[in-house]
Amino acid sequence: MALPAVSFGRSNEAGLDATERASRDEIMSLQRERLAWSLRHAYENVPFYRQKFDAAGVHPSDLRDLSDLAKFPFTVKTDLRDNYPFNMFAVPREKLARIHGSSGTTGKPVVVGYTKADLDMWADVMARSIRAAGVRPGMMVHVAYGYGLFTGGLGAHYGVERLGCTVVPMSGGMTDRQVQLINDFRPDAIMVTPSYMLALLDGFAKAGLDPRETSLKFGIFGAEPWTNAMREEIERAFDLQATDIYGLSEVIGPGVAQECVETKDGLHIWEDHFLPEIIDPDTGAVLPEGEKGELVFTSLTKEAFPIIRYRTRDLTRLLPGTARPGMRRMEKVTGRSDDMIILRGVNVFPTQIEEILLAHPLCSGHYQLELIREGRMDEMTVHAEFREGVETSLACAGEILIRIKDTIGITTRIEMHGPGGIERTAAGKAKRIIDRRPKD
Ligand code: DLL
Repeated sequence: MALPAVSFGRSNEAGLDATERASRDEIMSLQRERLAWSLRHAYENVPFYRQKFDAAGVHPSDLRDLSDLAKFPFTVKTDLRDNYPFNMFAVPREKLARIHGSSGTTGKPVVVGYTKADLDMWADVMARSIRAAGVRPGMMVHVAYGYGLFTGGLGAHYGVERLGCTVVPMSGGMTDRQVQLINDFRPDAIMVTPSYMLALLDGFAKAGLDPRETSLKFGIFGAEPWTNAMREEIERAFDLQATDIYGLSEVIGPGVAQECVETKDGLHIWEDHFLPEIIDPDTGAVLPEGEKGELVFTSLTKEAFPIIRYRTRDLTRLLPGTARPGMRRMEKVTGRSDDMIILRGVNVFPTQIEEILLAHPLCSGHYQLELIREGRMDEMTVHAEFREGVETSLACAGEILIRIKDTIGITTRIEMHGPGGIERTAAGKAKRIIDRRPKD
């Protein structure tokens, strides 16, 4: 099991490691070599992949070029559930250094595992991500992603250490305490879900502190969809630079892709370890670069839990690299195919509503969408919240409804709440949709 060497470490004056400076051709040739290894590794060590490849009539030796990957079968979430807990691992259990899993409260969690080398690679890609967000060695980073089976907290933690920074392992929750420690410790950066960052904003107001006066200069936000309107809101409120971080447990955790602070134009995928494809979610056909569809990932270097053509359900498009020319970007994820609401035939993503609410001067970024069925019709109520300290206005609700009708083309209801009126997630990911429709 000879793996190519880890790529983080020696950096040039601009702080970039060799792979971040590589050309597209160099990255692609590295990918070809690593993909051949990863397919073979999965086939030889995970019975699930062997059966799937055999049934599809493909063998790792059929890979001549990167495009041959399209011949291999997809992996979906139920495959992982069916192999619960440890049957997707390509190494004996004793070789696992750590286990993570989805934090869902119902059903079986998805379990993922890491060897020591996998943890090393993860810390490398996280360090690279944190640096791309503007953070430099010696800075202090407050980590408010949850610690535990969720990959956010520990993933961020080891990346911060790897970059040579001071980590504050705060985890999620206890908003008042978070505010106090940010105020007293004076961290340079924060890593947290965007929705919880807004809860921290409430916390600053409650404590009578000006959030623009904090020491925070950089924020690294992810684990849930958020819009550029939300970015502006957070940047303005805290006077910091906000970038987007993307990842999923099945692929490694956070650190699959990261926006560069100098361009803020989508997220560079760390393609030396994770190979992306975009497919048509209905037919499974691979789409050309630039077209929007479902994001699919194949791991190139993971030992414990190789993942081949995993369907993420996240919708986005691939774009050429900019700040890191050898590695492609993915556009900000607007939503998951399973978060899409189909309201009387029109597709709606929560992020579309978020954009409209934040464009209104009286609305905060807290919101929820409630779905009910009346007779045979589905109805949606937008629960929105007035910003702290604004003069509330009855006209606001009507203005938002018109804007939703004009831009998305749907008629909805709206309920305006006072500041703090919408339930906050204690930490973790925001719950945007409350579906009260009968299950049929
Ligand atoms: O959320 C890993 C993570 C932790 C990413 C901290 C970033 C920061 P999971 O719990 O497995 O892993 O959830 C993965 O979350 O398929 C997306 O639907 C969503 N997601 C993650 N990052 C983003 C993002 C972590 N930046 C699922 N924008 C993914 C939009 C995101 N959605």
